Amino acid sequence: MKISVIGTGYVGLVTGTCLAETGNEVICVDIDETKVKQMQQGVVPIYEPHLDVLFERNIKANRLRFSTSLEEGLNHGEIIFLALPTPEDEDGSADLSYVLGVAKNIGKLLKEYKVIVDKSTVPVGTSDKVKDVISNETNVEFDVVSNPEFLREGFAVDDFLKPERIVIGSSSDRASKLMSKLYKPFVRSGNPIIIMDEKSAELTKYAANSFLATKITFMNEIANFCELVGADVDKVRAGIGTDSRIGKRFLFPGIGYGGSCFPKDVKALHKSGKDNNYDFQILNSVIKVNDIQKKILIPKILNHFESNLKGKVFAVWGLAFKPETDDIREAASLYLIEELLKHGADLNVFDPEAMPNVEKKLGSKITYSANMYEATNNADAIIICTEWSIFRTPNFSKLRQNMKLPVIFDGRNLYDVNDVKSEGFHYTSIGRKPVN
Ligand code: UDX
Repeated sequence: MKISVIGTGYVGLVTGTCLAETGNEVICVDIDETKVKQMQQGVVPIYEPHLDVLFERNIKANRLRFSTSLEEGLNHGEIIFLALPTPEDEDGSADLSYVLGVAKNIGKLLKEYKVIVDKSTVPVGTSDKVKDVISNETNVEFDVVSNPEFLREGFAVDDFLKPERIVIGSSSDRASKLMSKLYKPFVRSGNPIIIMDEKSAELTKYAANSFLATKITFMNEIANFCELVGADVDKVRAGIGTDSRIGKRFLFPGIGYGGSCFPKDVKALHKSGKDNNYDFQILNSVIKVNDIQKKILIPKILNHFESNLKGKVFAVWGLAFKPETDDIREAASLYLIEELLKHGADLNVFDPEAMPNVEKKLGSKITYSANMYEATNNADAIIICTEWSIFRTPNFSKLRQNMKLPVIFDGRNLYDVNDVKSEGFHYTSIGRKPVN
């Protein structure tokens, strides 16, 4: 099939590349000329495991092309994906100006029937708005479909190629058939293509992300409570996760959820509730608890150093909001760094991928280390913010040699408490007894 993807952010790029992988002819369109030139030369503008291999293969096979022309994109595809940013407005709602702006231009340029697909995460009712904006400009027939993505950063290629489900919101048989044909190769294993109305599809995305954010937040509160009563959150997690109604995944406590989706989507659903006279009390709490959780290590660090962090040196391990990405949006590390700097601490940071992004934001306020051990030279403590695999099995004796004192504050519960104890470290984690 011929496919066009408008917007080559993270979602657009993964969508376009993976659709080319099953033999479709794909054009990805972006207004950013520099980025388009880069991609034409085979450079992937983001870090996402396995994307580079698929990218190269499909460009070579002439199944994946790039352009700055919306008109070229619109003429090429039978299906036009809109993968445009929907940033958070000041009031927490999703800003639809990019989506509706492109929709208007599509209306002006439309010559024959097309399926326009909302791939961006958009509030309930957006597909109606897109329809209105396009039909104000044209009499040519078209359909608008909502097709939310459930891609995790770091696993996006795998999630796209082997989805647990495909959700299609469409009230047109013609569009539903085309969409089902496109996705059939991806659900050979028998996973469902669930077709529903547009509004339900739009809400499905928000409900999924808000549910997962709530699940994590619930565990974070259980972890905080474990500390107060002397219970161990790892045991509680094993105890409840084995109940198939609860499930094992997304029960890992830590220093809060971050990234480009959960924080934005929880706030947007909360705001959407307000706009429709519904007060999502549970989401209100999730937002508040997560804000506190991001800084939950600060009082513990202050307590350990008797409230004086001036001149203390901290090695910060992990800056990305989660492993296998260079994305630092809403990363807990940034909130911790800000607080520690306020208290006059010196910070040596290390992250396998995200340091360039942090350097753009924080410049010379902190020191960037070449590796995880260099960051610990002369450090008073290590603070772990992201669970990169490389941090899971450190050489503890090397750390003891490098550091002033062997102290670890672990925001991601990477180590077995007894192992760290036997290595002679002071160890504070989340929801487990500290080792002194
Ligand atoms: C998420 C959804 O999983 C995906 O379906 C959607 O399309 C986009 O949003 P992503 O933001 O890439 O994906 O990351 P995810 O792996 O879901 O993690 C989100 C945040 O939750 C991270 O900050 C992570 O550290 C945190 N998290 C996750 C926990 O704190 N505990 C857990 O048990 C799981």
